[in-house]
Amino acid sequence: MPTKIIHDCDPGHDDAIATMLALASPELQTLGITVVYGNVGLERTTQNALVVREILGSKVPIYAGADRPLVRDRISAEAVHGKSGLEGPHLPTPTGKLEDGHAVGFIIEQVLKYPGEVTLVPTGALTNIALAMRMEPKIVPLIRQIVLMGGSIDIGNWSPSAEFNILCDPHAAKIVFEAAVPLMMCGLNLTHQTPAIPSRVARFRALGTRVGEFTAQLLEFFRQHHREVFGWEGAPIHDACAVAFLIKPELFKTGMYNVEIEANEGLAYGRTVCDYWHVTGKKPNVEVGLEIDADGFYDLLVERIGTYR
Ligand code: RIB
Ligand code: CA
Repeated sequence: MPTKIIHDCDPGHDDAIATMLALASPELQTLGITVVYGNVGLERTTQNALVVREILGSKVPIYAGADRPLVRDRISAEAVHGKSGLEGPHLPTPTGKLEDGHAVGFIIEQVLKYPGEVTLVPTGALTNIALAMRMEPKIVPLIRQIVLMGGSIDIGNWSPSAEFNILCDPHAAKIVFEAAVPLMMCGLNLTHQTPAIPSRVARFRALGTRVGEFTAQLLEFFRQHHREVFGWEGAPIHDACAVAFLIKPELFKTGMYNVEIEANEGLAYGRTVCDYWHVTGKKPNVEVGLEIDADGFYDLLVERIGTYR
């Protein structure tokens, strides 16, 4: 029986590859894609979700969600993903349309329809997830699991302390991390183990398919920022790690830790504070990703993306 998921995302180069992996994997049934502001504004992230669906030839329903954080000002990452949010390859004009209805309503509806069966896979700001929990608290005990890309047990990437997704909406993140839902976190400490170095990008191009070429061009653009800022020869495919965990958890080493969100402004604003040495005595509430078999991860990506034309 495939795992029912909702992919909540802000495409975004790595969100797009996460969607490709999810939709090509029989282990998962993607009930829908819900979109949130983040890498770029909501208008562009929803357009990009439609573009990715078009390229994949999928019919998965797509819902627009929150266009801003709960409390703080909106930040974005055009510097990383370009003005369109998917800079690099040619982006076709999507023929499909967004579903009527709001992403938050869809999340609530699906969790109530499939109690205990739906895994939420947020790879952007946690605003939609937090809004769903607040609008309909009944869904919290009915969510099977949340597997997210966000945070880090060590350094940040958007501030010295915080990772971009969490920093986008620390108040939403606090709601989600404090909810009594099994939560698995793919943070930067894990995702930075997956740089898309040229030899790995070449594997997608060698597929000789439209989607393989599209993926290679996404990664070649995505590399630019990471070369300039971090001096890396490849960008981590952050978001696909969360999807890969649901397909091949054996690629991961994880541990249970207490993780709390700093939602007060200041140097640590948006930090996922991980009690790695259990010094607080607080109950571990998050399964934290520690290591990933990067070669196995790319084998999975190439295999599954190779199933597209
Ligand atoms: O910090 C990396 C995360 O921020 C990824 O989800 C990327 O898509 C951006 O949203
Ligand atoms: Ca993302």
